[in-house]
Amino acid sequence: MPKPITQTPTTDPTLTPAAAPTFPPNFLWGAATSAYQIEGAVREDGRTPSIWDTFSHTPGRTAGGDTGDMAVDHYHRYRDDVALMKDLDLGTYRFSVSWPRVQPTGRGPAVQRGLDFYRRLTDELLAQGIKPALTLYHWDLPQELEDAGGWPARDTAYRFAEYAGMVGEALGDRVDLWITLNEPWCSAFLGYGSGVHAPGRTEPAATLRAAHHLNLAHGLATQALRQTLPSRAEVAVSLNSSTVRPLSPESPADNDARRRIDNLANGVFHGPMLHGEYPADLITDTAGITDWSFVHATDLAAIHQPLDALGLNYYTPSLVSSAPSAPSAPTTRSDGHGASDHSPWPGADDVAFHQSPGERTEMGWTIDPTGLHDLIMRYTREAPGLPLYITENGAAYDDKPDPDGRVHDPERIAYLHGHLSAVHRAIKDGADVRGYYLWSLMDNFEWAYGYEKRFGAVYVDYATQKRTPKSSAHWYAQASRTNQLPP
Ligand code: NOJ
Repeated sequence: MPKPITQTPTTDPTLTPAAAPTFPPNFLWGAATSAYQIEGAVREDGRTPSIWDTFSHTPGRTAGGDTGDMAVDHYHRYRDDVALMKDLDLGTYRFSVSWPRVQPTGRGPAVQRGLDFYRRLTDELLAQGIKPALTLYHWDLPQELEDAGGWPARDTAYRFAEYAGMVGEALGDRVDLWITLNEPWCSAFLGYGSGVHAPGRTEPAATLRAAHHLNLAHGLATQALRQTLPSRAEVAVSLNSSTVRPLSPESPADNDARRRIDNLANGVFHGPMLHGEYPADLITDTAGITDWSFVHATDLAAIHQPLDALGLNYYTPSLVSSAPSAPSAPTTRSDGHGASDHSPWPGADDVAFHQSPGERTEMGWTIDPTGLHDLIMRYTREAPGLPLYITENGAAYDDKPDPDGRVHDPERIAYLHGHLSAVHRAIKDGADVRGYYLWSLMDNFEWAYGYEKRFGAVYVDYATQKRTPKSSAHWYAQASRTNQLPP
């Protein structure tokens, strides 16, 4: 029987629903996590403490004294977690390798049991048709290397290159996307500047030394990976490059504040990595803090390695103004974590940070997808021809199961929809964005905020470790399946 006609057909374009945005044919849909935030098992199979074990076990450093000791027990549940990814139709999964699991003291031979965990994990991913994307450093420096000076010490860069080579040799046959560092800004500026991240030091000059040695670590590790990886493997880095905007666009002083923060947030990393030099004005702006003599003659060439892609992590833009009378800059950055009496911004105490207008997530971060579009277009200009991945984007909300045990998170769906639409628009505007990784696959240890902030598409009941996909996970699975944004 023909179906009854319930609606008068119309050609009025205003009544025709807009076509759902469709992504390029090989666009990768993924989700991301990191080792310390999910694995737990911190004392198993030869693993020794990282700076985050030490930091989280120091009273007062994390909300509620939370630690990653158990996290979401992924070390033992990785098979179920990969099955969940398969159920959610993910095409790719970005995870990180825990350095102290593979090379406990940061020196010497690799621990096979540590590497074996990542072999099992990647085997499982490949068996399910999910492309592994591996981050070598997501903030968990072996404590012994911090005791020897940490990132402000030059030797740490050489140690990292050695570790990168080991992991490359062990997993190069099964991983095609390699990310050297995750958000080196946080490692340097929050770890050694404001001290809200491990190791919790507050030394402005050490912050810039750390930034340089992270750059060097990236360059040396990229060279080490090139020696071991098959030629099809892509090597990239994930930067939390910030879209920095002036409070008053017509104010020269605010524009100058924007320029200085942009150098400290972005140029300090992409300058040497993409162009082989530090911005000249960064060096002069910070002359009162350091003379940059830790940059050796051959370092810039070592850092400036050809890359196969650039990873961008984006959450919210930054809004700044000049504040000559400010005693010190506010220390939370829009995508920083927590407050401190110390500024993470060396030499920029006279810059004030403001909340951008608009709705906010549970982190207090303003929701602004135009910042993501701007960022993608900036790097399309900054690094022409270099493919981009959005290696993190997502939102924390105060999710709770309903009486039926389901978790509805329409705000996260709206956030993802807005930001993926911005990615789509950037692609239409000519950007070469190859994939998108939602942060995060599941709720996890949100650093100084502990387990208080939930970023997952999958809800985790921390008492039972039960995983429940939220409605956003189903929404995202549909996007991944159809390569289109569902309404
Ligand atoms: C950046 C970091 O890479 C990730 O570890 C963190 O959980 C998210 N942003 C959210 O803050």
